[in-house]
Amino acid sequence: MPDTIFAASPLYSRHARAADRGAWSVEHDVRWLEINRVRALAQPDILSKLRDAALIESFHPVNLSRLIRFAWDDIDAGVVFSLEMYEGFKHFHALRLYLDAVGYEPRITDEELRQIRHRADRNDLDPSDRVGPLVEFMLSEHLAAYFFRRLGEQALEPQLRVLLAFIAADEVRHAQAAADLIAQRIAANPELSHNVLRAAAHFHHYGEQAVGQVPIAMEGDDVAIRTFATRIERLCGMRIVDHLKVELEL
Ligand SMILES: [Fe+2]
Ligand SMILES: [Fe+2]
Repeated sequence: MPDTIFAASPLYSRHARAADRGAWSVEHDVRWLEINRVRALAQPDILSKLRDAALIESFHPVNLSRLIRFAWDDIDAGVVFSLEMYEGFKHFHALRLYLDAVGYEPRITDEELRQIRHRADRNDLDPSDRVGPLVEFMLSEHLAAYFFRRLGEQALEPQLRVLLAFIAADEVRHAQAAADLIAQRIAANPELSHNVLRAAAHFHHYGEQAVGQVPIAMEGDDVAIRTFATRIERLCGMRIVDHLKVELEL
């Protein structure tokens, strides 16, 4: 379709288009029959992180239902969360299939997934902070992108490398979509940039609710940390460290 059709279209149209372009198939783009089981099982650390990641991805219906209620009248946010719901499911589905294909133990069970949901906070998010939950979502997606990218770099099993590259690219897109939603809110109300800085400074990954300690890329990953800070600076025109200095002085 010609670009001019999309030029004046809503923000969600850009996200839908990016999702279309980045689409990949769980069934066809990973060669399931060519997985090298021995090579995969030789890296139990990676498989264990993969298992945690699958549990976090499985948790999206709980996490996103809260976000959908939080931003229920924001048309663009509704689309962003719908895409996240579908693609997050794909990530969970593909990771679980992979772990089962190589015979990793302990196997993920539906009962385990249900228990995680039972433990979760299902209360409404604070509606008075217009951007806080979106910042948490954006930064979680940002770190997920680096996590999957780094894991893919370390993995020796070729099909896992392929799968993780697809997932990492999706997470980059998800983080960008969240950033667009936040930028839109700041444009309408510039005061919100303070809320963004505050939320970034006190950031918690939503996956903590699913698995406790989240195996994120941040620790020791200078690039992930730097780009994390850059995202905030670009949105707010202020660095997190400068915001923290102001906070400490108050
Ligand atoms: Fe994901
Ligand atoms: Fe995501």
